[in-house]
Amino acid sequence: MALRRRDLPVQTVPGRPREIPSIGTQGTIGSTLAFRRDPLGFLRGGIRNRGDIFRFRPLGIPMVMVNHPDYIKHVLVDRADLYDKDAAIFKIVRPVLRDGLIATADMDLWRRQRRMMAPHFTPRAVGGFVENMTDETEQMLVRWERHAGTGELLDVTDEIGQLALRIVNRSLFSAEVGSHAQAFERAFGVANTVLGSFFRFPFPPLSVPTPSHRRLRQAIDDMDAFVSLFVKRRLAEDSTGDRTDLLTLLLHTVDEEDGKGMDLEQLHHEVLNICIGAYETTTNALSWTFYLLARHPEVEARLHEEVDRVLGGRRATFEDLPNLSWTRMIVEEVLRIYSPAYQSMRRASQDDEIDGFAVPAGTNILLNSYFLHRHPDFWEDPERFDPSRFEPARVAARPKHAYIPFGSGPRVCIGKHFALTELMLVLATVAREYRLVTPPGAAEVQPDPLITLHPRGGIHLALEHR
Ligand code: HEM
Repeated sequence: MALRRRDLPVQTVPGRPREIPSIGTQGTIGSTLAFRRDPLGFLRGGIRNRGDIFRFRPLGIPMVMVNHPDYIKHVLVDRADLYDKDAAIFKIVRPVLRDGLIATADMDLWRRQRRMMAPHFTPRAVGGFVENMTDETEQMLVRWERHAGTGELLDVTDEIGQLALRIVNRSLFSAEVGSHAQAFERAFGVANTVLGSFFRFPFPPLSVPTPSHRRLRQAIDDMDAFVSLFVKRRLAEDSTGDRTDLLTLLLHTVDEEDGKGMDLEQLHHEVLNICIGAYETTTNALSWTFYLLARHPEVEARLHEEVDRVLGGRRATFEDLPNLSWTRMIVEEVLRIYSPAYQSMRRASQDDEIDGFAVPAGTNILLNSYFLHRHPDFWEDPERFDPSRFEPARVAARPKHAYIPFGSGPRVCIGKHFALTELMLVLATVAREYRLVTPPGAAEVQPDPLITLHPRGGIHLALEHR
């Protein structure tokens, strides 16, 4: 599939902004139904026919898709002050994420929270969580031992999901997640499916108790119960001792401007946002990583060579990360092809122009990294899995905003360093001992465009000793 940028005849009146081309020829209902049936196919058609910017109106919501690095930079960075999160997708996920960092549209609250939380997510701070990552991965490998060489298929997505939860739980609460992991995973899966479908067709409202909306309510209650269990357990402890976990850090953080910390309700929401932010995205990224490696033995062989040379069989440390350059390039290429947080939105709070195109106040801007990361002007043969695209010279030759797996600008992912460190360390640790292989005759796995880009049906691979 080749996406082509078209030079379209657009209506222009000298001195007046251009009108954004519309793909609404089928009218509102036509757009809504086509978007609901196959959102990626619908947007692919829009790009093919209209180019890097076009508008449509799913269920009457004014929506503009932008698919060019300059436009992305305009919205996320240069005019970030004009584009807020009071956008359709965040209204949809807010019943789950409430006013935590990810979805809040209250910019004063966001600024205060981000100021307090950012110091705990710097690369240096993440260094303090490295042992949680390697230790939990090694424990998973011990559990995997009995599957190795049997030909039996491992549910990689489920295994990695539990690992990701164990890592974030230990980093947040210094706690073992135990059997609660599966309940959280189930609840998140329900929320992702119900909200993913609601995003495509937001009717009837979530307040109407349809069976699927009732399942969503239950899933939110279950995720809240998961967070409360661990927060309450920690608050009940007499002292935090010399703990340096994230919960302790967040409990003791005060804002530099007013000297006050966050209240318990806000803390609960932030903890849930961290669990959700850290769980599904990392799980998807690692599942796709093992899937792609199993299909690209030449990339895998170079990974094994690097891991053996740098680690020589020992556990990886924070200091090893700069030397694991191929490992990092693999991770970056996976985040290009199967960008887990593949869609986001902003709402124009005032009238604006993007490259001379008029953007009226209230417009929802749709950002979709699945397509941006395949834009043929910036990515040669975009469907090909080729980590060498991330060699430093090639990165420098591309516009920075052609690649946004973690977003950009003030609301860039706060967990970016945490995520990159975790992805590299899990990958290097598994690669030290095992290969995951595709069973003969296995069909290609398709991405499922829910709220995140989930591998449809999960990734199932056989495990072999290297
Ligand atoms: C591969 C893993 C991850 C990916 C692809 C990812 C992606 C993203 C993206 C694209 C955004 C920005 C959304 C937007 O601008 O609309 C974001 C925000 C966020 N992410 Fe991540 N994320 C990942 C891992 C994590 C981890 C590990 C954590 C926590 C430890 C986390 C916590 C957050 C939070 C709290 C925000 C909101 C930041 C703000 O608005 O201030 N994420 N993430």
